[in-house]
Amino acid sequence: MTMQDSKNSSPGLGDSAPDFEAQTTHGMIRFSEWQAGRWVILFSHPADFTPVCTTEFVEFCHCSEFMKERDVALRGCSVDSIYSHIAWIRDIESKFSVDVDFPVIADLDQAVSRKYGMISEPTSQTAPVRSVFFIDGEGTVRAVISYPPEVGRSFSEIKRVIEALQVVDRHGVSCPANWTKGEAVIVPPPKTTADAKQRSQDEELESKDWYLSQKKIED
Ligand code: BEZ
Repeated sequence: MTMQDSKNSSPGLGDSAPDFEAQTTHGMIRFSEWQAGRWVILFSHPADFTPVCTTEFVEFCHCSEFMKERDVALRGCSVDSIYSHIAWIRDIESKFSVDVDFPVIADLDQAVSRKYGMISEPTSQTAPVRSVFFIDGEGTVRAVISYPPEVGRSFSEIKRVIEALQVVDRHGVSCPANWTKGEAVIVPPPKTTADAKQRSQDEELESKDWYLSQKKIED
């Protein structure tokens, strides 16, 4: 492992997702080639065969169709071996009647976990926390959520963030607090006094004030 690889800092929003090569349950991969222009949710879990992580894997399986419909690829990561991953996945599939169809990285040397700042040393020097990286089709990190080992992720929030980011990109708008799909979005505030004056007359918009205008969108 080089000095660069051993650094443990999380890429920030707007950064390019760090590239890497790794062994996964679907074979050896290079992240940039594997991503192939799709959105990716790269997530870490502390350890295989642990209770909270097991409930999360079942939920990742349950939202797999939702992600495919939005062209989002799921990629798991922990510092367990490939044999541990295979055994745990087989166990989950047989006990919970799900299909773990996404690859899981066997990051035994912590190279990927450290590149993405998934290891938070005050929490554990060895096991990743529950990180979720939302990476767009250009390979840019668009959102990051981090949960502690004792608290399982909110899958409604993970799905909400993906839908919100894709709506933002498609329509050039923003999403208000607690936004969910189907609700009105926020249009960019005007940048001139003339446009600010015009806002209140725009019948397509519901304006609370010149700087806060919302509208319904089709998808
Ligand atoms: C769990 O998945 O249950 C777990 C894993 C690591 C620390 C605490 C809980």
